[in-house]
Amino acid sequence: MGGLTGDVMTLWISRTTELLHRFLELFVREGDCVADCTLGKGYDTAFLAARIGLQGYLYGFDIQASAVRNAEERLVRLGFPPERHLLVQDTHERIDRYINRPVRLFVYNLGYLPEGDRSIVTRTDSTVNSIRTALPLLEKGGLISLVLYPGHPEGAREALAVKNFLALLSATSHRVMHWQYLNTKNDAPEIMVVQRVDG
Ligand SMILES: C[S@@+](CC[C@H](N)C(=O)[O-])C[C@H]1O[C@@H](n2cnc3c(N)ncnc32)[C@H](O)[C@@H]1O
Repeated sequence: MGGLTGDVMTLWISRTTELLHRFLELFVREGDCVADCTLGKGYDTAFLAARIGLQGYLYGFDIQASAVRNAEERLVRLGFPPERHLLVQDTHERIDRYINRPVRLFVYNLGYLPEGDRSIVTRTDSTVNSIRTALPLLEKGGLISLVLYPGHPEGAREALAVKNFLALLSATSHRVMHWQYLNTKNDAPEIMVVQRVDG
């Protein structure tokens, strides 16, 4: 019980992405097939690779060549086997062209790279299309996790559109959760998590 209390307290003082990682640590197992749909600097990729281990399989997507390179370099440093991953420079709208096995977890960290070109940003329509494409690729019990940043105009549109889209999923086929700090600033990052629960 003491350990649990400590974990919960640590969660509340963490950044949003760390909070999500702590949650996902409880979910991802060794040997899982996972997909990082926004590679960026490769932090999420490295987190996922460490969790799924050498028997897992990892897909990764980003429209920027530098993002694919960043993620690849992290995987090499971790010793993650080349035959256990596929990183692709392409939009996450086309994930179904590459993914040929059920996925236990899709991760989206949306928006732009803080130190990068801020004009290269995820867009409302392609994000919703990508989530729509990911849903049938989920294995039963699998999750889609999203971090959304409503603090910039496209991010605000994107967060609202994703929330509206997910809110309409049938509760018999999917569970959908939404977390956001309420008393920090009114455009704090949002976490949305979808779990497939149907057969
Ligand atoms: C916030 S960053 C991701 C951070 C990353 N997960 C990490 O751990 O460093 C968002 C990324 O989404 C990428 N992106 C934008 N539009 C995309 C699209 N349509 N398909 C795939 N990636 C896209 C950007 O190039 C950028 O690298």
